[in-house]
Amino acid sequence: CGIVGYTGNNNAAEILVNGLKNLEYRGYDSAGIAVLNEHKLDLYKSKGSLNKLEEKLDNNGKILAGTGIGHTRWATHGVPSDYNSHPHSDCNGKITIVHNGIIENYQDLKEDLFAKGHKFDSRTDSEVVAHLLEDFYDGDMVQALIEVDKLLEGSYAIVAISDDEPETIYGLKKDSPLVAGIGNQENYLASDIPALLSKTKDFYIFEDDEIAKVNRDRIEFYNLQGELLEKDLFEADWDADMVDKQGYDHFMLKEINEQPDVARRIMADRFTESDIDLGDIEEILAGDYKKVMITACGTAYHSGLIGRFLIEEFADIPVEVEVASELRYKKNFIDKNTLMIVVSQSGETADTLAALRLAKEKGARVVALTNSIGSSVDRESDASFQLMAGPEISVASTKAYVAMVLVFYLLSLKLGKLNDNISEARLKELIDDLKRLPYRIQETISEFAEISKEIAEAIKEYRSVFFIGRNIDYALALEGALKLKEISYIHAEAHPAGELKHGSLALIEDGVPVFAITTREKVAKKTLSNIEEVMARGGQVNLITAKNIEYDKIEVDNKLVLPEIDNIWSSVLAAIPLQLISYYTALELGRNIDKPRNLAKSVTVE
Ligand code: G6P
Repeated sequence: CGIVGYTGNNNAAEILVNGLKNLEYRGYDSAGIAVLNEHKLDLYKSKGSLNKLEEKLDNNGKILAGTGIGHTRWATHGVPSDYNSHPHSDCNGKITIVHNGIIENYQDLKEDLFAKGHKFDSRTDSEVVAHLLEDFYDGDMVQALIEVDKLLEGSYAIVAISDDEPETIYGLKKDSPLVAGIGNQENYLASDIPALLSKTKDFYIFEDDEIAKVNRDRIEFYNLQGELLEKDLFEADWDADMVDKQGYDHFMLKEINEQPDVARRIMADRFTESDIDLGDIEEILAGDYKKVMITACGTAYHSGLIGRFLIEEFADIPVEVEVASELRYKKNFIDKNTLMIVVSQSGETADTLAALRLAKEKGARVVALTNSIGSSVDRESDASFQLMAGPEISVASTKAYVAMVLVFYLLSLKLGKLNDNISEARLKELIDDLKRLPYRIQETISEFAEISKEIAEAIKEYRSVFFIGRNIDYALALEGALKLKEISYIHAEAHPAGELKHGSLALIEDGVPVFAITTREKVAKKTLSNIEEVMARGGQVNLITAKNIEYDKIEVDNKLVLPEIDNIWSSVLAAIPLQLISYYTALELGRNIDKPRNLAKSVTVE
């Protein structure tokens, strides 16, 4: 979900809706705003996208309020509907709130409130917050928020207003992000920095259990003892037009096309002739570790699977990769001899953050790979590697994924160097090649756009698509399948190429699309046999292969030969046609590409 709050002299409704538009990637089942006209509260809510909410606002003429709060929702408790949309008010419509996260003990709290005579309008966990504030509020909202904080269990970013104070908004957070944006005679609260980039570059970032009182000319932070806090200013260096589509039909396509620049940014000033400079992180990498553990969710997890192969290969250290939501619930053998690498584009994924905290508790050193400076993952890890991909708006991750994979290359090479496992000559060769990578990424995007459209046309009617590969190519296959299913809604599965014959081959019949990826010479021949098995059953084979792996003898349906580069880097390139094919397939099928159904960009619930 996404939150925006505003107080100032301008039209709050307009500012809230524009801010929320930049946050729709956080959820888009329903949306709503509450604005204070003098002491009168106006509430507008709508199921569906923000356009629906805007229609309602238009029908109500110009709203001139200067204070308000807004929310775009990704349903956790209660179906998407007008009445479950935020904001939620107390019984008298006096105190109104928006909330991100999950109030885990809301059933108990609700029962207590029922017993006291409170009546509820929605089925959400969030509404209890408005009623609790009603109970505690006696003109001092900071104190009421302190009391509420003591009762709540779970994760929350809450923004509240009271019609007693028509020029003030309040914020409180725990385990769900919240920032305060500083304007000129106007101030803001928001769940994420991109919501406010067109308005300000100056922010205060909330720590857990901090409360902010925001007026147009003043932002005050308090701790749970009610003491005033000194906060450091955070200056965001993202441009507002970095969150604009800039002429592309979709953010996803724009973000795919930004990948050469992302690669350039990651590598800028990193290389000497035969070494890599990773700054602060090097001190942590130089530790004596018995193993490396990587944890993440979704696409970030898939980048970690590639990271495993690279670190094992270059640095000769055993690596485990765990989905963050599983890590906490099994024996994990994390200790002070473990180097923990936590990967998260948003830096706010609840499961990933919980895994990070567990690793720290167990004494591991934690390095984060994140795209969000100042995010929880960034702040709580021992050191962070910034992905520098710029804001990623499309729910389906592309440029952040490629950035993660590239950073894993740099990390693994550096670890290899530190462990004397890679020769200076080889490292020099790789660095030289790496410098050419941004151009090769560019070539790959240009070269494969057309064929990706043709393949999209050929696969769009099929109900199931398969992706196969071995070693790193299997990790790529998993990401290819995820990308296709999340935006085209076609069922897609990835298998280690050698596993297909142990079950899924039964599903291959005339025309069934199979994507085979072969960027690794040492296993390519083996995958070739698996491709033959598919072809013998009439499967439609689309092969994505590195240049110097020759498959002259087989006639596949489509052969995508990646631009020439050391095969080691081909996995970065192979990700690109997979992204493009998913994009064009979803386009052919008329899907909502940037905001696929049921998904959210940043999942701050467990
Ligand atoms: C969500 C997004 C995925 C993303 C995952 C992890 O499910 O839809 O695209 O890979 O979260 O997000 P993170 O921000 O931690 O990388």
